Amino acid sequence: MDKIRINLKDFLLCISDAQDLMSPKLSKHHQQVAYLSFRLAEKINLPIEQQKNIILAALVHDIGALSMKERLEIIETETIHVNKHAVIGAKLLEEFKPLEEPARIIKFHHKSWDNGAGRNYKGEKVPLESHIIHLADRTCTLFNTESNVISLLPRIIQKISKQANTAFEPELVDALIELSKYEYIWLDLMSPTPIAMINDIGLFNTLVLEIDDIIDLSYIFSQIIDFRSQFTARHSAGVAKTAEQLAKLIGFSSYECKMMLIAGYLHDLGKIAINNDILEKKGMLDEYEFNEIRMHTYHTYRLLERIPQFNVVNKWASYHHETLSGTGYPFHIQGDNLPLGSRVMAVADVFTAIKEDRPYRLGMKDEDAMQVLKDMVLSGALDKNIVKVLIDHYHEINQIRERFQLAAAERYNNFLSFF
Ligand SMILES: [Fe+2]
Ligand SMILES: [Fe+2]
Ligand SMILES: [Fe+2]
Repeated sequence: MDKIRINLKDFLLCISDAQDLMSPKLSKHHQQVAYLSFRLAEKINLPIEQQKNIILAALVHDIGALSMKERLEIIETETIHVNKHAVIGAKLLEEFKPLEEPARIIKFHHKSWDNGAGRNYKGEKVPLESHIIHLADRTCTLFNTESNVISLLPRIIQKISKQANTAFEPELVDALIELSKYEYIWLDLMSPTPIAMINDIGLFNTLVLEIDDIIDLSYIFSQIIDFRSQFTARHSAGVAKTAEQLAKLIGFSSYECKMMLIAGYLHDLGKIAINNDILEKKGMLDEYEFNEIRMHTYHTYRLLERIPQFNVVNKWASYHHETLSGTGYPFHIQGDNLPLGSRVMAVADVFTAIKEDRPYRLGMKDEDAMQVLKDMVLSGALDKNIVKVLIDHYHEINQIRERFQLAAAERYNNFLSFF
């Protein structure tokens, strides 16, 4: 198997776009803010290193807004102070070394300029990059897709200019006024993929992640996916570790086992796009809600598909609700066409899910869990051999899963107590 190396920016785009799938109102928000922040940084001649960090930060600036309600609020409310989602986002991302600086920028991306007092916040220096994202963010939320962008622009610029010095750093507002003369910038901003309009040759070439970095960042992504609900807070960690163990036992190479771990962390990536009221619903889901949930594997597939090096990881991750009998979703892949790694993931997902508490039921006892897995083999849902491996090594795998999920739960609790 070929070694995978991926670009940090491309990987961040997966989670960035996942967030904006939540509602049409959020459409492309992260990409737009990244694009405009970059143009502002370029205009005021910030060094390349800072331009890079600003794009990375802007691409995930609202990642700490875990619920759809919160996401819409921060788009629709005009004055937001240094607040929860910015701090949460920074806290999640700062643990990954290459994102240390972007995390610091994100932490203050709603700090107002306050006639210069906004240079600092509670004894900490607020990076200029945070003020750039603040201005880009507020500018982008004033556009809508109904009118043509060039006609809207003068009113938007006028509105922003009135807040120079109070909300926004005045030199940045001047830079924005300068940019308003160039039609292409605003047309780029409204294009389907604003970020692709940045000619970044040389800008991101150095930000390449190797397998162990990809594992670390995938783990952080799994928290962004799972921390949206207390019921899923440790789910992907359990799936990833179980899948890795199963892969080891059926003879995958150590490199493939690492890929399996990554696929496990990312398998529910598309759940970010699902309204968390549905994830947390206490009773049975109605048909509409069920169809909504079922979209998540499709989203995972289309998001990961953009990273060609993830071709295999994507199939292992996104086919976890496909079944051998072909009655799964969304592709209805059948029998031999369902890769071995995808079957491993399906077993790991079911096993982890039935052992966890859900809003409508408690986790299952071991005997019941084993019975469910066996029944699913009989119905043609799960692979017989993989379920046999799991049952043959039940206590060993279950203990590893439990230990790993306990650690994930601890992180979640720490995380909650931080606020
Ligand atoms: Fe924000
Ligand atoms: Fe799933
Ligand atoms: Fe899952």
